[in-house]
Amino acid sequence: MKRYRRLRTSPTIRKMVQEAALKKSDLITPIFVMEGENLKIESSAMPDFFTYSLDRLPEELETLQSLGLKSILLFGVPGSKDSIASSAFDPDGIVQRAIKVIKAFDPSFCVITDVCMCQYTDHGHCGILSEDGIILNDETLPYMAKIALSHAEAGADIVAPSDMMDGRIEAIRDVLDDAGYTYVPIMAYSLKFCSNYYGPFRTLADSSPKSGSRDTYQMDYHNAREALDVAYEAIESGADFIMVKPAMMYMDLIHTLKDNIPKPIVCYNVSGEYALIKNGIAQGLVNENIIYETLIGFKRAGADLIITYFSKFVAEKWLND
Ligand code: PBG
Ligand code: ZN
Repeated sequence: MKRYRRLRTSPTIRKMVQEAALKKSDLITPIFVMEGENLKIESSAMPDFFTYSLDRLPEELETLQSLGLKSILLFGVPGSKDSIASSAFDPDGIVQRAIKVIKAFDPSFCVITDVCMCQYTDHGHCGILSEDGIILNDETLPYMAKIALSHAEAGADIVAPSDMMDGRIEAIRDVLDDAGYTYVPIMAYSLKFCSNYYGPFRTLADSSPKSGSRDTYQMDYHNAREALDVAYEAIESGADFIMVKPAMMYMDLIHTLKDNIPKPIVCYNVSGEYALIKNGIAQGLVNENIIYETLIGFKRAGADLIITYFSKFVAEKWLND
């Protein structure tokens, strides 16, 4: 008889044979910033997750600092929208100012910025629309590059394009290099699926498309074989990190990328995943250890880095390095 239980007899032995491990530097914390003063607003669909005005941002930074969480993924909720997302590349925009606040607070924070147009366009799409409402790929690229450049100029450490237009990595890399930001890496949302799990984020960021959907630009979740082609294209174009998003239902792809792509693999444990788990715990359906188990699942599948709204809770409860 095979005795699998032989290696499970004590906590010490079990720990010695554990494969997947999670450390604080694996975690990336999303931060949302908004215009206004003295605001700290809880998201309606994401309990315990808050959006901050810039004057209140330091309290969140202090918490992260005390927990040893040093990487941030920054999102802006702008004061105004238009058809070309002007507030996204305004040097005095909400994200550009937030980067400066974070860097002034502690320059050793790694500030990653989400580069997209959807929160900033009045139509809610991640690109430029034609007069008859078609999302235009090539016309969008210069805008994405402009947004990324404005983030780099404000001091972002890494830019993370999430629009899913073809050719954006190359367009952004060219503009960054021409401006001298050769050492600002690109974290590519490469495998970003057209998912129902983004609902709470879109409510929070007010970024739902006013009409139509994102299914001509985000990936179709029926498909996996396209993934490697997309990931190879991204690294050939200059991507430094490759992301899979969402994470929980997409662990097959995390695993495929880990085996095939020689770049750090990032997964994004998105808003809908967070909302389901938080509500399950609040209702007493599952206990909160499910959070740690979920994150270990990402590590076991092959994720190097995890973007998660649970980072503070996990760091406080389970991690000491
Ligand atoms: C913007 C963007 C979205 C998310 C991250 N960047 C929403 C979308 O594509 O509609 C979702 C993140 C989350 O749900 O936590 N393009
Ligand atoms: Zn978008």
